[in-house]
Amino acid sequence: MDRKKIYITRRMDSRSIEYLKQYFEVEINELDDALDREYFLKKIKDVDGVMCIHTEKIDSEAFEAGKNVKIFANCAVGYDNIDVKEAYRRGVYVTNTPEVLSNATAEIAFSLLICSARSIIDADKFTRDGNFKKWSAKNFLGHEITGKTVGIIGAGRIGRAFSKKCTGFDMKIIYHNRKRDIEFESEYGAKFTDLDTLLKEADFISVHVPLSFDTKHLISTREFNLMKNSAVLINTSRGPVIDEKALIKALKDKKIWGAGLDVFENEPEFDKELAAFPNVVLLPHIGSATIETRAKMAMLAAKNIKEVLFGNSPITPIKLK
Ligand code: GLV
Repeated sequence: MDRKKIYITRRMDSRSIEYLKQYFEVEINELDDALDREYFLKKIKDVDGVMCIHTEKIDSEAFEAGKNVKIFANCAVGYDNIDVKEAYRRGVYVTNTPEVLSNATAEIAFSLLICSARSIIDADKFTRDGNFKKWSAKNFLGHEITGKTVGIIGAGRIGRAFSKKCTGFDMKIIYHNRKRDIEFESEYGAKFTDLDTLLKEADFISVHVPLSFDTKHLISTREFNLMKNSAVLINTSRGPVIDEKALIKALKDKKIWGAGLDVFENEPEFDKELAAFPNVVLLPHIGSATIETRAKMAMLAAKNIKEVLFGNSPITPIKLK
């Protein structure tokens, strides 16, 4: 009997590929580069399962092109690239990789927080450029982190993992979420607030919501105007949650102190004006980029594919809300 076929859109951890090869015929985009849309649609024409990432649009055109595909396994926790409703309508499974990347992403969020608050990147550049000629009591004065108030927007798995890091710095945690989470509150002493109160009270604000119609530009001019002048905004979720133009204006007008961004509105493009601010830290979407986590994500996606193609339920299905 012919083995079922899998297409993998990026070079993933080799153990996940080996795992899939035990059961299926596997083809990988060895170029490890963004796939041309037409090429992608052609590649999924005759396959049974696809392992993809957040940059591949899985919409009705993709479902139509991949008529035999039973599962699109997204190697990411976010799935704004997938038309989940359409997948349900067609009876195609879609899966993501929750949980395994929460700590890695929370680490990057906290790194951004420290780097922005303490001007780490700018100070490093200053030193490397040979400018450290004398010590000065005024050089690179930042904002202390310990004991400050952190506002967490979205208390899902990553928001909670991030909160845990914050407790190590004795931070007071306030949060805004679709619904209250009493367990989270008692575990971290977190206080639930409405969004505006959070924006007014927090010294550091970290965004951990999925991108949806409701969260696009959740943080825009009105929201920046509510923040403290000393506030630092961190985004490791999805770029469009923050209105990038409004952020640049807020930084220019000194409405906030700084920002740490791992994601951008039009990735991989970003507004070059952002690079001019000393307390802005810019990363190329590396929230989950640890050797351990990327291996776990790829293996989870691989196992989702195996389960579905063997007639079982996937391990981490994306559910229709
Ligand atoms: C990465 O951005 C992810 O959603 O996992």
